[in-house]
Amino acid sequence: MSPMATYPGSSLRDPRISAVLDRLHRDARRDVFRFVGLAPRLLGGFLVRRSLFDSMTPERAKNILMPVSREQGHFLYLTARAIRARTVVEFGTSFAISTLYLASAVRDNGGGVVIGTELEPSKHERALAHLAEAGLDEIAEVRLGDAMQTLEKTPEPIDLVLLDGWKDLYRPVLDLLTPRLRPGAVVLADNIHTFRKSLRPYVEFVQSGENGFDSTTLSIADGFEYSVRSDG
Ligand SMILES: C[S@@+](CC[C@H](N)C(=O)[O-])C[C@H]1O[C@@H](n2cnc3c(N)ncnc32)[C@H](O)[C@@H]1O
Repeated sequence: MSPMATYPGSSLRDPRISAVLDRLHRDARRDVFRFVGLAPRLLGGFLVRRSLFDSMTPERAKNILMPVSREQGHFLYLTARAIRARTVVEFGTSFAISTLYLASAVRDNGGGVVIGTELEPSKHERALAHLAEAGLDEIAEVRLGDAMQTLEKTPEPIDLVLLDGWKDLYRPVLDLLTPRLRPGAVVLADNIHTFRKSLRPYVEFVQSGENGFDSTTLSIADGFEYSVRSDG
């Protein structure tokens, strides 16, 4: 089967892709136990008034998938299909669940590129293996390192961005990528509900109407901020 082969309706029905997604979503259900294992360290950080994400270093989280839900993944796929996205950038790849949905959409749109980025080396390796297993490694590239460096250069114009790394970088990554967004580009930012307080400045920025975006919070799973780059 050629890597660009399409399936009736959707690449999400391609058995190679659905098998990897099913397995990873199943594995992600065990994240709750992995978080419990980290609880003493997270609590220690909390007691010295560090935020959850200061305590949750990439090294500590290296076995935790923290993926988008199936519903969010399907929403990412449908959004990328609706806007015919060919160039997609993702901040925070982990084991590549979201990347698999996005790359499936790009394949069904006729091909293009998904640029992911992951800070933690073992997660980066696993992400590459999952994309290869699904037959999507010709479309998706995952860059190893800090997004502020790895995303300095990307193909452009960008059609769609997923922000799903550590929350303090949503605004800096958005600022980095904004000059490369095409009019009508969609930016989806995850975990708006859990990190309501720390993401409030981000949400206010995209919702103000004064910064080149129209935006609303969608209550899908943990909350997606759905922002569209204005034309002007
Ligand atoms: C919530 S998980 C991403 C889940 C993924 N989008 C999915 O749905 O499968 C966040 C990931 O972002 C990575 N990350 C955090 N800060 C980063 C940075 N500055 N640059 C690149 N990756 C980063 C973490 O190591 C972690 O694996």
